[in-house]
Amino acid sequence: MGVPFLDLKQQYRSIKDEVDAGIRQVMDSCRFVLGENVRSFEKEFASFCGTEYAVGVANGTDALRLTLLACGIGKGNEVITVPNTFIATTGAISQTGAKIVFVDVNSSTYNIDVSQIEGAINERTRVILPVHLFGQPADMDPIMEVARKYNLEVIEDACQAHGAEYKGKKAGSIGDVGCFSFYPSKNLGAFGDGGMVVTNSDEIAQRVRMFRDYGQIKKYEHLVEGYNSRLDEIQAAILRVKLKKLNEWNNLRRGNTSIYDELLKDVDEVITPSKAEYAKHVYHLYVIRTKKRDKLQEWLKSKGIGTGLHYPVPLHLQKVYEYLGYKEGDFPVTEKCAKEILSLPMFPELTKAQIEKAVTGIKAFFAKRHLFVKSRTTDDELYNRGIR
Ligand SMILES: Cc1ncc(COP(=O)(O)O)c(C=O)c1O
Repeated sequence: MGVPFLDLKQQYRSIKDEVDAGIRQVMDSCRFVLGENVRSFEKEFASFCGTEYAVGVANGTDALRLTLLACGIGKGNEVITVPNTFIATTGAISQTGAKIVFVDVNSSTYNIDVSQIEGAINERTRVILPVHLFGQPADMDPIMEVARKYNLEVIEDACQAHGAEYKGKKAGSIGDVGCFSFYPSKNLGAFGDGGMVVTNSDEIAQRVRMFRDYGQIKKYEHLVEGYNSRLDEIQAAILRVKLKKLNEWNNLRRGNTSIYDELLKDVDEVITPSKAEYAKHVYHLYVIRTKKRDKLQEWLKSKGIGTGLHYPVPLHLQKVYEYLGYKEGDFPVTEKCAKEILSLPMFPELTKAQIEKAVTGIKAFFAKRHLFVKSRTTDDELYNRGIR
C-alpha cells in the first residue's frame, strides 16, 4: 500500500452523519442561496477568526478580488505581493486593473521578505498583500508598520492558513482584511468551491456584500454592476460542521509534522519546514527542500508515495506575466524554492505508519545515491539491478 498525498474520504467518513444531515436540511428547505446557513456560518467563522464581520463568497480568488474592489483598487494602483504563491493571488490583483509588484520571500518561512517591501513602494502603491503560505503566517507586525507609515491597506491571503496564528491572533484578522478559500483540499474545505472575507471594517464588509451580489444594496437597487459570487447554502452547511473540527484537525497536522521532523532530522540532504517563533503553523502543506527534488519525487512515485510541487514555476517567470518585465534572477529565493521544494503527504488522518513509510522511501533514495556515488555505477545499471 502506498501513501496518498491527500485523502479526503477518511475525513468525510468521520463526519458523514452530520454532513449528510446538513445537506438534507438545505435540500428540504429548498433555500439554496444566501440563507440561514450562510448567515450562521459567516457569524461562526468571524467569531473563530476574532473579527467583527465575515462575508461568504464563491471562492478564495473572489475573496481577494472583491476585497480589492471593495477597497477601491483598480487601474493606476499597485499591489505588492510575492511571486512564491498560487496564481490566484496575482490573478485577483490584475483582474481589478491594478498592477502586480513582486518582492522576494524569506528563505526560512518562504513568506514575504518584509525588509524588501519599503523599496517597492511608490506613489501608486495602495495595498500590501502578504500570503500565509503553507499554513504559516507572514511576519505581520513589520508589514503593518510599513503599511501605516505609507497609508496602505493590508489584505492577507489566508487561503492556506485557516486557524493559523500570529502572536496569538488568527491569520486573516491582523491586516485590514483577510481572505480565505474553502477549496476541498484546504484545512477547512468545502465539497466544492467557497471563500470568505473577514474584516473589522463595517464599510469593507458592506462593499464586499454588495460586490458579491450584483452590486445590490437592496433587492433590485444596484450601486455598481457587481458580480455573482456567493457562497451557497449547501457548502455553508458542510463548512459549519467542519469548522467545529478545525482545531482538532490542525492539532493532528501539527502532530504529524513533529513525527516527520523527528524522522527526517538526520537526513542531511533534506531541509524540513521551519516554524517562526511568532507563528502557530497549521501545516496546510508539509514542504521539504532538497537539491535532488526531481529524482526524489520520481523515486517516491515509483514507491506509491504521493507528493506535490507548490510551486514549480515562480509567478514572475510565467508566460502570462512576461508583460511585467521581470527576468530570471530577480527573486533568487523564490527561484531556489521552485527548484527544491517538495510537498510530502499531509492531512489530519495521516497515520504514523504512513509517515514512516514516506520517510523510509526518502531515506532509501539518499542511501541509494550514496551507493551510486561510491560505486560509480551508472543510473541505468542501478535501475537494471532494481535499485533505482
Ligand atoms: C495562496 C492561495 N491564494 C488564493 C487561492 C484561491 O482560492 P480558490 O481556489 O478558492 O479560488 C488559493 C487556493 O487555491 C491559494 O492557495
